[in-house]
Amino acid sequence: MTTDKVFLSASGLSKSFDSVQAVNDISFSIERQEIFGLLGPNGAGKTTTIRMLSTVLEPDAGDVEIGSRSALREAGEVRKIIGVCPQEIALYEELSAIDNLVFFGRMAGLGGKEAKEAARANLELVGLLERGRDAVRKFSGGMKRRVNIVVALMSRPQLLFLDEPTVGIDPQSRNHIFDTVLGLRDEGMTVLYTTHYMEEADRLCDRIGIIDGGSMIALGSPDELKASLDQDGDVTLEEVFLNMTGRSLRD
Ligand SMILES: Nc1ncnc2c1ncn2[C@@H]1O[C@H](COP(=O)(O)OP(=O)(O)OP(=O)(O)O)[C@@H](O)[C@H]1O
Ligand SMILES: [Mg+2]
Repeated sequence: MTTDKVFLSASGLSKSFDSVQAVNDISFSIERQEIFGLLGPNGAGKTTTIRMLSTVLEPDAGDVEIGSRSALREAGEVRKIIGVCPQEIALYEELSAIDNLVFFGRMAGLGGKEAKEAARANLELVGLLERGRDAVRKFSGGMKRRVNIVVALMSRPQLLFLDEPTVGIDPQSRNHIFDTVLGLRDEGMTVLYTTHYMEEADRLCDRIGIIDGGSMIALGSPDELKASLDQDGDVTLEEVFLNMTGRSLRD
């Protein structure tokens, strides 16, 4: 159940693809204005979880509530308050960055003028306003990632899903993305972030769920997770994961 404090509540979520149990009975909640990290290795079930939370994929079992609406039964209402940045970059290469954002803004229901203003503001937010008129195909990978993120902001969502937004980009672009996410949170946004970079989750997230083989194996703040292994918390999240699973996160 969502409350004044809890903005997203997922209970008993499961999903199988043929013989693969991608997500197995996952339950957790995210508080308003929290950056929640879903952390796990390749194939752990992070994207499948995000797709179910964001009304894209119907779960086999379980329920999701976002801002007191059911993502299953009131998907249209839920879509109005969420933004999704997919793991794969989804931009029109031949269109300029501004035209991409205007297009997605119009799809989200903004008027023409409103969409243009929001496009410029969002490009400025990620430091790309000056390149706004260039075709996206001329952008570097990190620049495309930044545009991909602000597509999800065009509808001014209350809850933002970011699926591995920093894969394959340099430290500078990564820091830029961190600052953007922290700024959005400070302005009141709630964020769900997936990554398989432990240091990143440690630095950015208020709370973390560690997911492995489709199951949530640990849940807590970075400090709580570290203290579960070492009383002084003098360990890394990588070591916490290793201790829980017997495997390294990058195996
Ligand atoms: N559409 C699909 N059809 C069949 N199997 C799928 C599908 N989507 C996901 N899977 C399987 O479900 C499991 C979880 O995949 P998922 O994409 O959720 O993992 P992930 O944690 O996001 O991994 P990554 O870090 O590589 O993005 C994997 O075994 C994957 O092969
Ligand atoms: Mg994924």
